[in-house]
Amino acid sequence: MFLLIFFSKRFLPLVSLAGGFVLASQVWAADKPPPAPNGIERPEGYQDWRPIGVSHRSDKNSLRIIVGNDIAVQAARAGKTNPWPDGTILGKLVWEDRVHENWAAATVPGKLVHTEFMIRDARKYAGTKGWGFARWLGDEQKPYGKDATFANECAECHTAAKDTDHVFTRPVSLP
Ligand code: HEC
Repeated sequence: MFLLIFFSKRFLPLVSLAGGFVLASQVWAADKPPPAPNGIERPEGYQDWRPIGVSHRSDKNSLRIIVGNDIAVQAARAGKTNPWPDGTILGKLVWEDRVHENWAAATVPGKLVHTEFMIRDARKYAGTKGWGFARWLGDEQKPYGKDATFANECAECHTAAKDTDHVFTRPVSLP
């Protein structure tokens, strides 16, 4: 009896700490969207990645920021992007154009259209030009594509940028 009280008192904080971790990881797991139909998971921590470029599409009326993981950012800053190194992940985050409520001439991000990613692994993704492609739609982050073949559509259009390793973005100047 004494032992039991002794142990439970001693370990109660630890037990509740562990419980907290389990709970926190379950909440996190629920927030994570399902993988794309080709099995690619949405990269963790992309919200904290650094910028490589920005763009505006006048045909789609949307604003985009192109961000990268550490390997991508290092390569971009060093100008070593043709080819991009294995392990590079480029993310493109797209929002609808919105007029700023206090300044009509300012176009700012509206509704989230999608998040999409290109993961560099020359061997694993040899079938799609050395890049793993995946996209998640809207605030719900619903995986895009009926089946794994959706990635061919991505890779084919990116062929227009084949001279720059199938990447359209030119890293911005950051003196
Ligand atoms: C019809 C052409 C087209 C298709 C299809 C397409 N893209 Fe792109 N993608 C572009 C263009 C053009 C850019 C650069 C302009 C911009 O920033 O939007 C781009 C940029 C990107 C970027 C930023 C890196 C870069 O190349 O500049 C990522 C990441 C990306 N696309 C992922 C995807 C994924 C994933 C798919 C498929 C689900 C896809 N793309 C399908 C035309 C396309």
